[in-house]
Amino acid sequence: MARRSALINVMANAADKAGRRLVRDFGEVELLQVSMKGPGDFVSSADLRAERTIKAELRKARPDFGFLMEESGSEDGADSDSKWIVDPLDGTTNFLHGIPNWCISIALEKQGEIVAGVVYQPVGDQMFWAEKGEGAFLNNQRLRVSARKEIGHSLFATGIPWQDKGDHETYLKQLGAVMKESAGIRRIGSAALDLAYVAAGKVEGYWEEGINAWDVAAGIIMVREAGGYVTELDGKENVIYGRSILAANDRMHGKLKRLLRNAVREPKPV
Ligand code: IPD
Ligand code: CA
Ligand code: CA
Repeated sequence: MARRSALINVMANAADKAGRRLVRDFGEVELLQVSMKGPGDFVSSADLRAERTIKAELRKARPDFGFLMEESGSEDGADSDSKWIVDPLDGTTNFLHGIPNWCISIALEKQGEIVAGVVYQPVGDQMFWAEKGEGAFLNNQRLRVSARKEIGHSLFATGIPWQDKGDHETYLKQLGAVMKESAGIRRIGSAALDLAYVAAGKVEGYWEEGINAWDVAAGIIMVREAGGYVTELDGKENVIYGRSILAANDRMHGKLKRLLRNAVREPKPV
């Protein structure tokens, strides 16, 4: 049976408290105030309230830690080595459309490295958590990435750019290549859940461009502690702040990286 540390309990309790209110909001989504941060980028009163709840809970438990939060930005703490990275509601578009693929993502970065993460999907009460060196878990069950090694047998998750977000032409080439070779593709609509699903072995890999630290910080440690690999799309290692992500089981990471790279490679002049 998995024993959660005091640190994971702090994170899980904050997620749980915010999650209970989010579930109520989800049930009466039409009452929420919604505004636009940018084209196709919505924020609701539920996102903002959840962020306030999480911040207050984390601050109460660890008053010296700093914050990087999607809605309120960054705040230094007295302990300059420790920072919470939080997305209070990942999958806002799903949430606002009544689709239950949304979650809360909380990570702790220490000296530039993610040491703990929680991804909580309140609908279904799924608490994914991981701590450095301790493994990754879904509620009490240990997680392990999938063992599939053939692209042709593999299911992949991805984030699809929309409106003026991202390079659509490049993305369509990548999507075409994975469509042709794989057993299927899913657009789950929450980067944190995409990563949790790689950790849980539900999908063999996930890629996306144009993501932020709060989307992926908790999911990164989840995948690593479950035995998978996470890099930027081009293989570089600035994975928390690098804006692109490629996560996969240990046997699939290199294959997916090559497939995506070859899809956009210019043909050699003859
Ligand atoms: C979004 C989701 C989505 C991903 C976007 C993110 P938000 O986060 O994770 O799956 O494709 O890049 O911005 O706005 O719902 O917190
Ligand atoms: Ca997000
Ligand atoms: Ca969000």
